[in-house]
Amino acid sequence: MYLTKEEERMLDGKEGYATRKSMEILVALGNIFGAEKLIRVGSVQVAGVSYHNLGDAGLEFLNELAKDGRVKVLTTLNPAGMDLEDWKKLGISEEFARKQNLVIDTFRKMGIIISCTCTPYLIGNLPRYGEHIAWSESSAVTFANSVIGAKTNREGGPSALAAAFIGKTPEYGLHLEENRVPDTHVIVEAKLEKFSDWGALGYSIGKKVENRIPYISGIEDVGLDELKTFCASVVTYGSKPLFYIKGITPGSEKYQPPREGITIEDSDIREAYESINDDVDTIALVCIGCPHSSIKEIATIAKLLKDKTISPDTEFWVATSRQMKQLADKRSYTKIIEKAGGKFACDTCMAVAPLKGRFESVATTSAKGCYYSRHNNMKTKLGSLEECVDAAVRGKWS
Ligand code: F3S
Repeated sequence: MYLTKEEERMLDGKEGYATRKSMEILVALGNIFGAEKLIRVGSVQVAGVSYHNLGDAGLEFLNELAKDGRVKVLTTLNPAGMDLEDWKKLGISEEFARKQNLVIDTFRKMGIIISCTCTPYLIGNLPRYGEHIAWSESSAVTFANSVIGAKTNREGGPSALAAAFIGKTPEYGLHLEENRVPDTHVIVEAKLEKFSDWGALGYSIGKKVENRIPYISGIEDVGLDELKTFCASVVTYGSKPLFYIKGITPGSEKYQPPREGITIEDSDIREAYESINDDVDTIALVCIGCPHSSIKEIATIAKLLKDKTISPDTEFWVATSRQMKQLADKRSYTKIIEKAGGKFACDTCMAVAPLKGRFESVATTSAKGCYYSRHNNMKTKLGSLEECVDAAVRGKWS
């Protein structure tokens, strides 16, 4: 891979340990994937923030980098393993909180914005169409590539950090136009009637197209929250963090529908629910906000919970960014949700908080949330916001 004089200096360690280490990571990646050069990135989103996933070895790695590593571009963080301000209410142990705070301290020292959200595009890390970025959380990567039209590979934690310290990433994969061409046509004939149907659609398309890039037709209209949940689902159950929806997402106008294709029918959506949903009645946890809830979703939750009381046998969490919670505070949504017995889980989420063994079952609006909850040995129910709120109030799934 071609390196400029300045990049060679950095690789030689003339700018310190973290810069050298970062260049080593980027050059190794570039060589593996056949990149010709490094390109500038407008922003970085770093995943691998929860102490639950990092452990002591990860913390040590970050500590080493934080000694002299400082980010060169706007860099935000994915969710951590706990609410950074009010972790006790979520049942997090003192020891976990201590370690998680040490992790956060290293990121703060590096100059990273402690945003702790997988929806950075809702809180100020919003790339422009066509901009090269280096993001790592899969739903955010898919949203950036597909809904915004920015260009990013799905970075790992270390490669995203390396990109942040250098301000560049190797030019390969989805940074190149030729790798962004849709190669399978998905015709959606299924009726999408409720919010969670978008997660079910993501499941179905993800499973069917696997590593291909879908060009989706048959969708007349869709809101941002639906796109957000679809992004999370399609990449979780498939693998490519890029799709086009005809007439809706940017770039779709550049392409004709590929010849090869599949159709998604009502039966596919039904099958998705059958596969995601377990046979369970009692719901121990209801978690909304995967990806992190927008202010519109929080407003709807508040409306549904007004003058209701959550079952004493069920926890109700709204996972969101701290900035969104601050808006919710101002609009009194927080008051309504907390009065009903709900809790805000800011800075964290159902996948990265240490939940294993704490809840036997979960109801959520997120197909991705169901996927990760099963890894935490929880039985899962996917449903609309109305169904999830109803489950929280009754402690049972209807
Ligand atoms: Fe975000 Fe956590 Fe879901 S990172 S997409 S809320 S699993």
